[in-house]
Amino acid sequence: MKYIIANWKMHPQSLGDAQALFDAVAGGLQGSDLKEKAVVICPPFPYLKALNSKLEALSWRLALGAQNCGPQQEGPYTGEVSPSMLKRLGARYVIVGHSERRRVFKETDDMIAQKLQAVFEAGLVPILCVGSPTQETDEAERKEIQTQLEVVLNFLTNNQQQTTNNNLLVAYEPVWAISTSGTGLVATPEQALSMIEFMKLVVGRQLSVVSYLYGGSVNADNVASFTSKEGIDGVLVGGASLKAAEFVSLVNNA
Ligand code: PGA
Repeated sequence: MKYIIANWKMHPQSLGDAQALFDAVAGGLQGSDLKEKAVVICPPFPYLKALNSKLEALSWRLALGAQNCGPQQEGPYTGEVSPSMLKRLGARYVIVGHSERRRVFKETDDMIAQKLQAVFEAGLVPILCVGSPTQETDEAERKEIQTQLEVVLNFLTNNQQQTTNNNLLVAYEPVWAISTSGTGLVATPEQALSMIEFMKLVVGRQLSVVSYLYGGSVNADNVASFTSKEGIDGVLVGGASLKAAEFVSLVNNA
């Protein structure tokens, strides 16, 4: 199974535009061979319900995810949206720990661990993002990613979280390769695979049912170079997921 996750971030600006984008993607993918592909659209929260109604009307597989969630299921937490609420709106996946959440909103590894546990508890599939802002040395990047993973894994272990029945997707997203980072850099498929192999060693000590994704400037032209690598189970796509025709080609090429 290859996962293609569309992270719409804080786009588009209206429900009408979100519905039009969804329709264009769904229409473009009609007839595509999606037997071995899981396509997950992650729109902003306010669009989930309406897009879920559209999704239910489709006779084929397309899933919805959220881009973030709160670490609790309910309570006095102003401004938060819980994983269980997201589930009721139709989401099946939740992105947790995206670098923009870590950098702009100062989310720590501990907060991310709590969110991950809450997503598991709600019966949703977390997409845990890890990545380093710097590309100083391979060694430094690995160390940072190892820490990001270990804090989360230790938290789950300490809370005796039963994760074996749950899926977990872990995305390697080097911050320097994200299209809006301004570097113009993309990780090579070899770099992505090498880091993912390293992540497998770290994660594999504690969890078994895990898929590994790459994210950062993935587009219709380069997607196959990542997804054709054994060991890379899919991609997380930002900018290219907002252009329906490009995203449809991307899914077809993956
Ligand atoms: P990008 O974003 O595809 O625009 O680089 C990826 C991400 O931030 O998830």
